[in-house]
Amino acid sequence: MLEKDVTLPAPARIGKPADPCVMVIFGAAGDLTRRKLIPALYNLAKAQLLSREFAVVGVAHRPMSTDDFRKKVSDDMTKFATGEIDPDLREWFVRRMHYLTGDFGDKNIYTQLKDLLDKVDKDHSAHGNYFFYLATGSDYFGPIVEQLAAAGLMEQNNEHWRRVIIEKPFGRDIDSARALNAQLLRVATEKQIYRIDHYLGKETVQNILAFRFANGIFEPIWNRRYIDHIQISVAETVGVEGRGSYYDIAGALRDMVPNHIMQLISLTAMEPPISFQADAVRDEQAKILHAIQPFSAEEVLTKTVRGQYGEGTAGGQHVPAYRAESDVPNDSRTETFVAMKLMIDNWRWADVPFYLRTGKCMPSRNTHIVIQFRRAPFVLFRDTQVENLVPNQLVLHIQPEEGISLRFAAKAPGPIMRLGTVDMNFEYADYFGTTPSTGYERLLHDCMIGDATLFQRADMVEAGWCVVSPVLDVWKALPPRNFPNYPAGTWGPKEADELLERDGRHWRNFEK
Ligand code: BG6
Repeated sequence: MLEKDVTLPAPARIGKPADPCVMVIFGAAGDLTRRKLIPALYNLAKAQLLSREFAVVGVAHRPMSTDDFRKKVSDDMTKFATGEIDPDLREWFVRRMHYLTGDFGDKNIYTQLKDLLDKVDKDHSAHGNYFFYLATGSDYFGPIVEQLAAAGLMEQNNEHWRRVIIEKPFGRDIDSARALNAQLLRVATEKQIYRIDHYLGKETVQNILAFRFANGIFEPIWNRRYIDHIQISVAETVGVEGRGSYYDIAGALRDMVPNHIMQLISLTAMEPPISFQADAVRDEQAKILHAIQPFSAEEVLTKTVRGQYGEGTAGGQHVPAYRAESDVPNDSRTETFVAMKLMIDNWRWADVPFYLRTGKCMPSRNTHIVIQFRRAPFVLFRDTQVENLVPNQLVLHIQPEEGISLRFAAKAPGPIMRLGTVDMNFEYADYFGTTPSTGYERLLHDCMIGDATLFQRADMVEAGWCVVSPVLDVWKALPPRNFPNYPAGTWGPKEADELLERDGRHWRNFEK
């Protein structure tokens, strides 16, 4: 609900408005805030999903007054909004912004923050509900939450709630993830901690659940009897986009696999939950993550592939090598590509490989999940070359195309029996139109209404790292000797193709 003087061009609201609250953003002067958080909050306001009793307190090192911050927010909105801006709503929105300059390591700012929050809370009638968004470097996550607790800002009761949203990376291996969880859980309860993964804010990722569990025809064949294997590809055309200092320490494996790709695997492979309650869904996801067979050291050598791009050509443009990016050492051994073959040890998926790959500077931006079914028996088509019989593939297109397609064989017209491969396509935009969004709207709103379904629990994060950590250990012990090993603008090193070819399979590449 918004103030009476604001007339909104927005469509009717779908969902309940968030609770009154103050959102405190640590890292309010940074990129995530201006590119994603502010536009997402504005979109929520426009869709009437934000309480009228809402305010933001930005906290960052950069010295700024509240007026400067309001001006910055207003300018950033012009630049990064996903749709048209309503001038009245912009004014309503910007008046809710407040700012505190300070160093996150300085204890004093937490007492200053507490005083400011008392005031902002009264002025905006936020009922004492606060959530803290840590859009900061990961080293600050633990210390900030400890300081918030020490200042009494994490204490909740029947009258008000307190929550904290933590960005990635959540740890850099299994030990550091466990240590961070332990540090947070000493001063906050699991229910107060919202570990965000922006992949779960994507409509098409959420739709994996709807597709599987709201339709009767897919679930009976969603298992090892009918499915040959599954491919998950998260291909990016971009390089490291000025994030060299972060990326060179992280690498593709840490950056994408324990978080985004584990989400895609668990939603694709999980059993039907008994309800859509947060823990019912997350229990099933966690079971899958725990069932992924961890690699032995030998298996890391045969079932994982790493790559780093050298110079190449993409979209007709020359692309410099990863090692030539700023803040990347010119002998860097960090991987920008990873591929793996995982097995899930349960009755549904025994012997069904899950192949995954992700990389920077690939030929097209494309995230998709290919479910490849077993071939039909060949009796009828014994005169047809086996390799010409294309197996059925169901493809969940996550981005940039959003949709679902089914590949099957059909008779090519003519007097003899010849088979052709055809695709049946569904595109979201054709049925539901498109509502431009940042992907953070749903997640922020969920936190404001206390729904943690789309956030990571401690055990899920740790289970993801259990899969990845053995790989990191072997890779560290055996530094790559052949980097760079794929030119920018290609589908990764040849070993990634061989990973499937050894099993008589091939990646499906989508190129536009
Ligand atoms: C981020 C990674 O979490 O996800 C980036 O740190 C990556 O390296 C990005 O580019 C991909 O997100 P999206 O939404 O563009 O697929």
